[in-house]
Amino acid sequence: MSGGSATSVAVIGSGTMGSGIAQVLATSGHAVILLDRTPADLDRGLGAISSSLQRLVTKEKLTAAASAAALDRIEATTDWQNVSAAGVVIEAVFEEPTVKADVMARIDEAVPDAAFVASNTSSISITAIAARSKHPDRVVGMHFFNPVPMLSLVEVVRALQSSDAAIEGAVSLALAMGKQPVVVNDAPGFVANRLLVPMINEAIVLLEQGVAGKEEIDQIMKLGASHPMGPLALADLIGLDICLAIMEVLHRDMGEDRYRPAPLLRRMVDAGYLGRKRGRGFYDYDS
Ligand code: CAA
Repeated sequence: MSGGSATSVAVIGSGTMGSGIAQVLATSGHAVILLDRTPADLDRGLGAISSSLQRLVTKEKLTAAASAAALDRIEATTDWQNVSAAGVVIEAVFEEPTVKADVMARIDEAVPDAAFVASNTSSISITAIAARSKHPDRVVGMHFFNPVPMLSLVEVVRALQSSDAAIEGAVSLALAMGKQPVVVNDAPGFVANRLLVPMINEAIVLLEQGVAGKEEIDQIMKLGASHPMGPLALADLIGLDICLAIMEVLHRDMGEDRYRPAPLLRRMVDAGYLGRKRGRGFYDYDS
């Protein structure tokens, strides 16, 4: 294993975002402690990392040796004691305030000396998450974008309590990962999701109203606005449950009707059609 002198980072949660973050940390030379609740969760996360690395090797964006070295830098664990060696923590657990609060308490206990603790939340207030920590000044947002290995932005989110040192630490880490950090203040949806997710929601309203079909809506935004994928395909990539959670936060916290979730979005989530991760969303992924 060779992490060099790069900070060792604990990543809490090995889902889509946690595994993507762990992968980029590892390919940029950081020792990673990847924690999840069960070995099965970790296996799924490591499987996603392996196949993404393989894709990069096939495309000759990474050598096979660099891919193997990256995998070597990731220590997967279900034991919080193993996290204590980390210099920095990034949490990317389930988007549920009580789960985040529990994780912040665990981090306080397991990693009292971490330089900063970043949350990758896409919908919960960083200020509220920081308030659940005994050290709110060291808590910041590091909002990564899916697929993490491909998209260069990290929104670094300043909570009301965040210290300058914590913000600077998050900016430096994002740069060391080869990402482009942009610092914003805590607000519902930050900047990216405040713009992106209402657009997706409106595309769902258009679909529901029969103004155009899903392919037509997606084609219009690809051809007319040069988006790499249409809003409904993007909803499937992000996860419809995540899109709904973000709209609910925008609607509640901004208090404006224009952020009301599309009824069809809610029904899709009720049906379990959550997008790519479930094989079905606006499009079918079973094949
Ligand atoms: N790992 C490794 N490589 C990957 C990858 C992954 N997970 N996903 C895609 N790639 C690579 C492919 O191998 C391919 O490489 P080449 O260019 O060398 O051929 C390249 O990315 C393009 O992939 P595809 O040809 O399969 O398809 P594409 O051109 O449509 O690109 C995409 C795929 C990168 C996902 C692109 O469509 C895209 O950028 N879409 C927009 C994604 C976006 O907006 N994400 C933000 C969502 S919002 C969010 O995440 C925040 C939140 O809080 C909700």
